[in-house]
This record gives sequence, structure tokens and C-alpha cells, in this order.
Amino acid sequence: MSNCIIAPSILSADFARLGEEVDNVIAAGADWVHFDVMDNHYVPNLTIGPMVCQALRKHGVTAPIDVHLMVEPVDRIVPDFAEAGASLISFHPEASKHVHRTIQLIKSHGCKAGLVLNPGTPVEVLDWVLEDLDLVLLMSVNPGFGGQAFIPSTLDKLRAVRAMIDKRGKPVILEVDGGVKADNIGQIAAAGADAFVAGSAIFNAPDYAQVIAQMRGNVAAARG
Ligand code: DX5
Ligand code: ZN
Repeated sequence: MSNCIIAPSILSADFARLGEEVDNVIAAGADWVHFDVMDNHYVPNLTIGPMVCQALRKHGVTAPIDVHLMVEPVDRIVPDFAEAGASLISFHPEASKHVHRTIQLIKSHGCKAGLVLNPGTPVEVLDWVLEDLDLVLLMSVNPGFGGQAFIPSTLDKLRAVRAMIDKRGKPVILEVDGGVKADNIGQIAAAGADAFVAGSAIFNAPDYAQVIAQMRGNVAAARG
């Protein structure tokens, strides 16, 4: 699969003007809205919940909303996000007692299901659930904050997970999150990623369209 899904993380957007920020970034060429949910428990930060997701839908956002749950426990909040208009819901295996059950729960509510691997989480956690997943998200920073530096070992991990996905043959989107910039996105794409979360690199740039175009150009160049 040679997708190039650009998913700006609204964690770095101006929350006082969130609807407008999302409209602008989609108009600038983004594919998905990456929606970071933090609970001050699983991660040491607190952000936004289903009401904000619903508000974006009511505002008129039609792009896929890629919900990244950094919350523990996971299951209680899944139906709320499905009702609020989430398209994809991803969670961390460490935050759910029954990973397989949570995946089925997400899918039973009509959303695509993703599993998120922290930098220290072994890829073997995918062994018995990969066929049930629509997406694997590799964290290239420790979750909790925007603006951190990309952890280089993620490149080897991307190659390992790409091989696992290709071996099984079923299309599973491989997404990467944390420290993704125009100047490293080529390497990340070459290592096998299909979808790229970028918060500060996009929302801190003066021209969203320009940075997204630059990212797409660098992905295309790296893939040859
Ligand atoms: C971190 C979040 C990321 C974050 C990425 O816990 O999951 O989505 O917003 O921000 P940047 O692109 O600035 O590293
Ligand atoms: Zn995220």
C-alpha cells in the first residue's frame, strides 16, 4: 500500500478557534483530523473528549476523525466517541485489560479500530490481533505532549511492523505519531508508514498548505 495520509494533530491547534483551524487545515490538503484524548492518568496531560468531537461534526467537519485515546480504562468512553462522530478509534494495549475485546467493541460501534504501540512496547503485542485491526499506530515519542523529538528507533520498528502487515496480506494502515516534520517524513515513509500524524510541524507553520505539500513531495520522493 502506498498511501500518504496526512493527519494533523489538533493538539497544536488554537483551541479558541478550533472549528476554523480544522476547516483551514483540511482546505490546506490534510486527509484526517488527528484527535488526541488525554486523561491525566494514563498520560500526564489532559485534553479533549467526545463533546469536542461532536462539536466539530456539528460545525460541519466531514473529514475522517482519527481519535487517539490516551485514557485508562478505554471501554467506557468508546461508545461516546462513536456517537460523537469518530471514524477511527485507537487505544494503547497497556490501558485495556482485554485488548481483543476492546477492538471488537470499537468495531461493533461502526468505527475502524487501531492499536497504538509506545516506543517501549514490543511489536509482539500485535501477534494475535493484527487481523482484527484496521490500523496500527506507532508512537515515535512517548505520549502526552506535542513538540517532542522523533525517536530514531521507530524507523526499525516501522520496518518490522510493515513486514508483519505485508506477510498477512490484509490491508492495515500503518500510522506514525510524534516528531514528524517535513524533513524526516521521507525516511519515515521509506520505512513503511502510510499515515503521518503531525501537530507542531503543521499548526506552528505560517502556511498549512505549504508544509503539507512539502510533506507529500518528500514522501513521494522517498518512495521513488
Ligand atoms: C502525543 C500525541 C501526538 C502529538 C504529536 O502524545 O499523540 O499526536 O500531538 O505532536 P507533534 O507532531 O508536535 O510531535
Ligand atoms: Zn496522537
